[in-house]
Amino acid sequence: MDTITTLAELRPATDTLRSEGTLALVPTMGALHEGHLTLVRAAKAAADHVAVSIFVNPRQFGEGEDLDAYPRQLARDSELLEHEGVALLWAPPPSEVYPPGYATNISVAGVSEGLCGGSRPGHFDGVATVVCKLFNQVRPDMAFFGEKDWQQLAVIRRMARDLDLVRPHVDAIHGVAIVRESDGLAMSSRNAYLSAEQRAAAAALPRAMRDAIAVLAEGGDPERPLGNLREVLNVSGFDSVDYAELRDAESLGPLDSDNGNARLFVAARIGGTRLIDNMAVE
Ligand code: PAJ
Repeated sequence: MDTITTLAELRPATDTLRSEGTLALVPTMGALHEGHLTLVRAAKAAADHVAVSIFVNPRQFGEGEDLDAYPRQLARDSELLEHEGVALLWAPPPSEVYPPGYATNISVAGVSEGLCGGSRPGHFDGVATVVCKLFNQVRPDMAFFGEKDWQQLAVIRRMARDLDLVRPHVDAIHGVAIVRESDGLAMSSRNAYLSAEQRAAAAALPRAMRDAIAVLAEGGDPERPLGNLREVLNVSGFDSVDYAELRDAESLGPLDSDNGNARLFVAARIGGTRLIDNMAVE
């Protein structure tokens, strides 16, 4: 595996890989876990070569968020990726991505509004901007993202379609199902922030979501199960609930009357840690 940290070295390396076959990109912020590695394996199955980026993107962290605390473990990550047969690791320093004078922002309307876009203002501008840059830097044939960050995936698909980013177009943006711990908690680099007690309490999130979905699937007014979900989280050790909402899975807008494509989205805080999850309402 080639580890590359400058744009000057990246161009010839990706040109070589692309001349040998298809190239898939898996963008990450590192502190890799089985969720990330599942994306890498999906990419390997679909493309001849896989490039992974590790970049803790300052532009997608708001003021007072965990940019400085975000776990950084490049040596360990690098070993894991080597083991998965990744061809190229792109791990630029912030100065290579945002040199002095950097002034451009990408903002995707619609799907970025509400949910995490509501509770983390500017977050999806930061994500769209860095992912657009990563696509331009690596020029992959396809890219892989997790459904754990469902709204992020929708923002990236919208951007890729609108800006003609990845060849051939939106179909080249692949979504991969959420990878969970054995107690149901969605894997996340941020789970490392949790104390043992908080980690045990965090399992209430997917459990309460599944309970709410069982009631929601019967139809009727969604407000009661959603209110109950918030209450369960509050008594289970969560400190606050940023949102617990049903949306249309594709548009992320309000549900149609038939609720045929409903998805439940939750963000909740436990101590200083913010956890998110989403599930289909079958
Ligand atoms: P990061 O949180 O490191 O996640 C990288 C990718 O792994 C994302 O596509 C995310 O959805 C996916 N992922 C994380 N946990 C997962 C899980 N439990 N199951 C399935 N997929 C999972 O998301 C980002 O980084 C950044 O916003 C990024 C896209 C790299 C832009 O900076």
